[in-house]
Amino acid sequence: MSSILRSVVTGVGDYLPARVVSNDELTKLVDTSDEWIIERTGIKERRILKGKGLGTSHMAAQAVRDLLTKTETPPGDVELLICATTTPDFVFPSTANLICDMTGIRTVGSFDVQAACSGFVYALTVAAQFIETGKYRKIVVVGADKMSAIIDYTDRATCVLFGDGAGAVLLEPSRSYGIIDTLICSDGAGLAHLHQKAGGSRMPPTAETVAKRLHYVHQEGATVYKVAVARMAEVATALMKRNKLTAGKIDWLVPHQANKRIIEATADRIKLPRERVMITIDKYGNTTAATIPLCLWDYEKKLKAGDRLVLVAFGGGFTWGGVYLTWAYDSR
Ligand code: ACO
Repeated sequence: MSSILRSVVTGVGDYLPARVVSNDELTKLVDTSDEWIIERTGIKERRILKGKGLGTSHMAAQAVRDLLTKTETPPGDVELLICATTTPDFVFPSTANLICDMTGIRTVGSFDVQAACSGFVYALTVAAQFIETGKYRKIVVVGADKMSAIIDYTDRATCVLFGDGAGAVLLEPSRSYGIIDTLICSDGAGLAHLHQKAGGSRMPPTAETVAKRLHYVHQEGATVYKVAVARMAEVATALMKRNKLTAGKIDWLVPHQANKRIIEATADRIKLPRERVMITIDKYGNTTAATIPLCLWDYEKKLKAGDRLVLVAFGGGFTWGGVYLTWAYDSR
């Protein structure tokens, strides 16, 4: 037992929409092929949320309900909820506010964190501070994105990459296991290479912005790829150095899932064998803020108490960051 109060993940919940969209289905919309998508990205299929009036909060609330059921946590016990998302239901109120209302978490603080694909790492970092200071004892952190709402299904360079989904974790205090170190970084010069042009206060929506298809993700893939590989490896290396971790001591790398080649390059640079790298991109694509909690959910049965995990992410902004933590429980 340590004298240090840490925040520890005590459960994981998920929501994945039922509708599966295969690469072959996308070949009917754009000039692409199953072979190109698998070879260049590792993606075989992704989930897409269908249903009128259903936004990111719908998926996030389901993930939170799953989490609260699994951890036998009454909604009234939750003291703070943070939602990482780039596809909020509305400009305001925050998606976190909506999730609380939908799940019976009443009157507590709730807010969104916007850091694109690094959103979950950012939100976890923020949440950890409230536990470590002793302010709160139960915090829900949810990463959720309905990327299909901001993807141009006539643009082959982006529409094959993304999917919809949500993952949530419960954070509680512990003197045994938990978050040991966090690192968050950003560089606003990344704007040019990855952004959504219209819909914000700089370019509010008009008939012209809609006609010009400016409400979708714009990505210069090759430029972003190079920076992503460098930054993901950099953050993993920095966390390892700061915490005297060699590759042999890391049980799992939990990387943001944007491209299987980026994930493999990151693992290679820190000399971590592939069997200790969580991969879900083949099944879910890039679900932005949801990829890391969905990895934890997908691999939960393989995790054991004391396992050392390094989470790393890179995304729009540019933003990047990582978390080093020890896992708290054996598979339930
Ligand atoms: N099918 C077939 N051909 C395609 C497709 C497609 N779906 N998409 C692009 N191509 C073509 C291009 O048009 C180009 O053709 P050209 O040479 O005739 O011009 C060729 O393939 C190569 O294009 P690149 O963009 O150089 O392809 P690349 O190998 O870099 O792969 C990809 C593209 C997958 C987007 C890659 O660059 C990547 O993963 N980038 C980083 C993504 C990332 O990490 N994003 C950050 C997180 S996302 C967020 O924060 C919201």
